[in-house]
Parts: sequence; structure tokens; C-alpha cells
Amino acid sequence: MTTEMHELGEGDLVGVRGPMGNHFPMAEFEGKNLLVLGGGIGGAPLRPVIQHVLAHRDDYGHLTILWAARKPDLLLFTEDYDTWRATPDTELHLTVDEGDDTWDGEVGLITDLLKKVNPKSGNTVAITCGPPVMIYYADKVLDEIGFAPDRRYVTLEARMHCGIGKCGRCNIGEKLVCVDGPVFNMEQATGFLEGYL
Ligand code: FES
Repeated sequence: MTTEMHELGEGDLVGVRGPMGNHFPMAEFEGKNLLVLGGGIGGAPLRPVIQHVLAHRDDYGHLTILWAARKPDLLLFTEDYDTWRATPDTELHLTVDEGDDTWDGEVGLITDLLKKVNPKSGNTVAITCGPPVMIYYADKVLDEIGFAPDRRYVTLEARMHCGIGKCGRCNIGEKLVCVDGPVFNMEQATGFLEGYL
């Protein structure tokens, strides 16, 4: 889709279907601490979560953002970082797989950063989005440091055809990403991240 969009010209007609599927249960998250883990372009669906929390700051507890990319120039939403850092009860931690001359921050995987930050699991909901392998291993670390399955949310991506739960193209195990997801917690979808890899 990205390629097609770049090839569009001014005045071209575009059709849009949606929104489809479910969404982050932001009302259920009220009163809880949030841990947001964004890897690469997976940060895109998490920015609205962060912006919602910042816009309703008193409704949520502590917000910890772990944000990662392969290289510094691939970090998303850099223009937001000062605002995120300046917001009360909010912390931002960045890491890249591979630094460059401009980078003096953390270098390493987001799972290493997660172990280092070691957020408290009590009354905290974790929300993860990124490449499948990152989601899989970040979820394992969250499990190890005490996040219960119903406190570990992910938002997933699958290639889709119908988008309305008819064709089965977007299945992961018995779940259909287009109607059951894209947001799941690990209680709803026990063990199914293996099928997502
Ligand atoms: S895209 Fe057809 S069932 Fe999900």
C-alpha cells in the first residue's frame, strides 16, 4: 500500500474502508500505569495511545514509553519527544539497534532496554507493537518480569482480503485479526504469538 500511495498523483481517487476490528480499551486502562513498547513503524498505532493519555493525564497512572528503531534516523515521531518527556509522570527511553555519529543514547534491542528499565508490573498494563519477532520476545520478557497475561496487550498486523471475517486470510490460529483484533491481550490469545512469527 505504501508503494501505491507514493505513486499517486494529485487528483487521483482513493477509496478507504474502515475502521475495522477492535481498538485499545482505553477506558479499561484508566487508573492504571501504562508501559508502551514501540518498535520501528510499530510505533505508529501507539502514538494515539500516548496522545490520548497525555490529553487525559489525570485519568491514567505513570506512563513509561520504550521506543526503538534499527537506526537513529528511523526513530518515529522525534518531534514529540520533548513534549512526552516534559509531561508529568511520563518517561521516555530510546534505543537503536545500531548507532551512528549523531547518537549517544542506548544501543541494543528493546528487550535489553526493557530488562534495564525493569518496570514494575503491579497495576501496569503493557502495550506492544512492532515487528513480529520484537513483539514475540518483548512479550516473553514481560512475562518473565511479572506481567500477567491479561496485562500484556499487543496490536498485530496480518495481510487481509475481505476485512470482515469471511475469507480467513488474516487468521492467526483461530483468531481473525480483522474482526477479533488487531488488539489482543495474552489471556484472550494464549500461546498464539508462536503462530504470528
Ligand atoms: S481479512 Fe478476511 S477474514 Fe480477515
